[in-house]
Amino acid sequence: MPVTNMAHPLDPLSGKEIERAVGILKADRRLESQVRFETVTLNEPLKRNVLEYTQGNPITREALLVVLDNNSGRTYEAIVSLTERKVTSWEHIPGVQPRIMLDEFAECEEAVKSDPKFIFALSKRGITDTDLVMVDSWSAGNYGIREEEGLRLAMARCWMKTSTTDNGYARPIEGLIPIVDLNHMKVLRVEDYGIVPLPPNDGNYATEFVEDFRKDLKPLEIIQPEGPSFEVSGNKVSWQKWSLRIGFNPREGLVLYCVGYEDKDRVRPIMYRASLSEMVVPYGDPRPHNFRRNAFDIGEYGIGMLANSLELGCDCLGEIYYFNGILHDSRGAVMEIPNAICMHEEDYGLLWKHTDWRSGHTEVRRSRRLVLSFIATVGNYEYGFYWYFYQDGSIEYEIKLTGIIHTSALNPGEIPKYGTLVAPQLNGPIHQHLFNVRLDMSIDGQDNSVHEFEVVPEPRGTTNPQGNAFYPRKTPLTTESKAQRVIDPLSSRCWIISNPSTQNALGEPTAYKLIPGDNTLPLPDSDASVTRRGAFATKNLWVTPYSPKEKAAAGDYVNQNPGGDGLPKWTQADRSIENTDIVVWYSFGLTHVSRPEDWP
Ligand code: CU
Repeated sequence: MPVTNMAHPLDPLSGKEIERAVGILKADRRLESQVRFETVTLNEPLKRNVLEYTQGNPITREALLVVLDNNSGRTYEAIVSLTERKVTSWEHIPGVQPRIMLDEFAECEEAVKSDPKFIFALSKRGITDTDLVMVDSWSAGNYGIREEEGLRLAMARCWMKTSTTDNGYARPIEGLIPIVDLNHMKVLRVEDYGIVPLPPNDGNYATEFVEDFRKDLKPLEIIQPEGPSFEVSGNKVSWQKWSLRIGFNPREGLVLYCVGYEDKDRVRPIMYRASLSEMVVPYGDPRPHNFRRNAFDIGEYGIGMLANSLELGCDCLGEIYYFNGILHDSRGAVMEIPNAICMHEEDYGLLWKHTDWRSGHTEVRRSRRLVLSFIATVGNYEYGFYWYFYQDGSIEYEIKLTGIIHTSALNPGEIPKYGTLVAPQLNGPIHQHLFNVRLDMSIDGQDNSVHEFEVVPEPRGTTNPQGNAFYPRKTPLTTESKAQRVIDPLSSRCWIISNPSTQNALGEPTAYKLIPGDNTLPLPDSDASVTRRGAFATKNLWVTPYSPKEKAAAGDYVNQNPGGDGLPKWTQADRSIENTDIVVWYSFGLTHVSRPEDWP
């Protein structure tokens, strides 16, 4: 497998580039230790420049930085030209909170555990040793509370471990919610909603606690004696006529660029850029200590920052090619996640088969797919994000939900309304996982259109005397408001993204279909804080004309945002989306009613 390192304008920033960007900005703005670097990432070049780029052309590199000043609480966006070694833009972004950063989680836990108010509240519960107390920081959200305005707040949730390796989520310290000012790393108040005893049982899953593993599994080995069939050149991947580029950033994690498919002597473009743009996990418990519980794992924390370093034989099996994630900590130091992105081929069973029953002649083609994935740990939960590329030209996206369910404690004998009893005195709260994937489409070029496709029954009449008729119907979606749609599985509703200027062999516009899988809509009230902030999830389909600034379905600054940002804001302009450069946003998700089998 030839591996070269051809540079490209869309390559993620290298460690050296991150260091240089931080150094240039620190010197230029005289930034001291009061600042945290939420983002140091590639400032993606103009699409036109990327499309015109050919190998060997000079490349201009820019970094986009988001900086939080803990003293003033102000947030700044900066652009640093790495080519010219200077700051080209420095802008105060008023009224926003950057994502909660990795270092803040650890510092927040320390602040809570050493706070006298918290220690007193623990003592009321008979807990005197804070060493085994576990504190998870969640964004405090935005509930229009005047005293919280302008503050950078975390809501902490606490658990009690029995040993350092114990699964802490087995014993929630119910009703105890420290509220922390993250700019000053100080506990503002400790909300105490009354004592609920710790659940009695352990919930341990680690190997050291498992006495009896199954012993009847024989080895299953995946061997590719001639190596994998993909080729990698720098961040470019080619496989079975597919070609694409790999990107990685702190917010979205894996980004795919320039996805195309080889047809005879040319590569036909399909998507310019594809990534998971946002997600939200609303929880259904309305009680005072639980109504704030929801998580925008991308906009509030960043799934790139939380990406795992993957292990061969565990996370991925077979002939694996890994890409590293090059990120940074909140002080601007380079933080490398080795093996952050896994790429491999999978046998995917049958692709096609036919037997000619007269001759007995059989033809079979097996299916193989290229898998690109990464896994993020967000507190208790794990998300596995998988892009699949198939030999028949189809692309699939899958998210695997795993990890540990969130828990809360119950009084003995209590049956939870907003959850499921998963162990004695332990509630697995009801919640949803709602995602949005942003697909910057480029079917055979940048100018595309979208149609809704449905199969409809035909009314009885002269053309349908027996009443058996049904047929596919295509409706053009021409503006942003018309393209806000929800799924309808009973009509086989899907959306066709086509290029009106190019035809396939049958004279139809060349196109891709966006086919919904299992899906749902948000269950919280339409005016609930979490729905206003996560309005992207209220429609399964959105289409916008391309704008380089519009990358995040719930807006760039989701943490403590009052709502209305992102898709609902941009689409108010009701711009035309006909035969132009468009971006398709697909929201999808599920409702998770915890089961005892989910625990631990
Ligand atoms: Cu879940």
